[in-house]
Amino acid sequence: MDDIVFRSPRKRGRVAVFLSGRGSNFMAIREAVRRGDIDADIRLVLSNKADAPGLVKAREGGLETLFLDPKLFTTREEYDRAIIEEVERRRIDLICLAGYMKVLTPGLCDAFKHRIVNIHPALLPSFPGLHVQQKAIDWGVRFSGCTVHFVAAEVDMGPIILQAVVPVLQDDTEETLAARILVEEHKIYPEAVRLYFGGRIEVRGRRVFILETGA
Ligand code: GRF
Repeated sequence: MDDIVFRSPRKRGRVAVFLSGRGSNFMAIREAVRRGDIDADIRLVLSNKADAPGLVKAREGGLETLFLDPKLFTTREEYDRAIIEEVERRRIDLICLAGYMKVLTPGLCDAFKHRIVNIHPALLPSFPGLHVQQKAIDWGVRFSGCTVHFVAAEVDMGPIILQAVVPVLQDDTEETLAARILVEEHKIYPEAVRLYFGGRIEVRGRRVFILETGA
C-alpha cells in the first residue's frame, strides 16, 4: 500500500468558506457546526462577488465576511496571494470551496495542500467543469451524484474524500437532477468536514481512507 501522505488533524478546526453564489452548501456546513456535529468554527466567509447571496447570509448570521474584488488585482496570482494572507492571518485550518467560481492558482493550492476541499455536483472523474448535471443527462449515464475532494492544481482532480450516488431519471431536466444532487451535497459536505477534524481522513497515494477512529 502507498505511504501515508496526509492525516487530517484531530482538533477544533478553524474553517474558511469560499463562495460565489447562493451558499446552500455553506449553510449546510454552518448548520452542522451549530448542531455541534463538526468540531470547528467558521472563521471567515470569503467571496469574489460582492452581492453573493451566501455572503449576505453569512454576514446576517454574524460571521466574518470578506469580499475581495478581483478588479483590484492585476493578476490571478496577485489575487490569490491576497487570499493566502487573509487566510494565514486568521490561522485557518481548512478552506471549504462551496460554489466558488474562480479557479485557484497553483500557488494557492500548494500553500494549503490537503487543507482545501471542494464539492462537485457529479461523480468525479466523470464530468469535471461546469453544467455537469446537463452533461450527465446528455451522456445518458444512469447514475450521477456528487463528490467532496481535496483541491489540487489540476481542476476537479484531487483525491476523493466522499461521494454520493443519485439516479438519473428519464424525465430529468438539468434543474430536477441538480436539485436531487444538492440534497446529497448537503449531507456529504458537512460529513467530510466532520471526518476531517475528527482526525479520520488519511491520504495514501491518491486514495483517501476513512479511519474508524481519529488518530
Ligand atoms: C453546488 O452544486 C456545488 O456542487 C457546486 O456549486 C454549487 C454551489 O451551490 N460546486 P451552493 O452555492 O452551495 O448552493
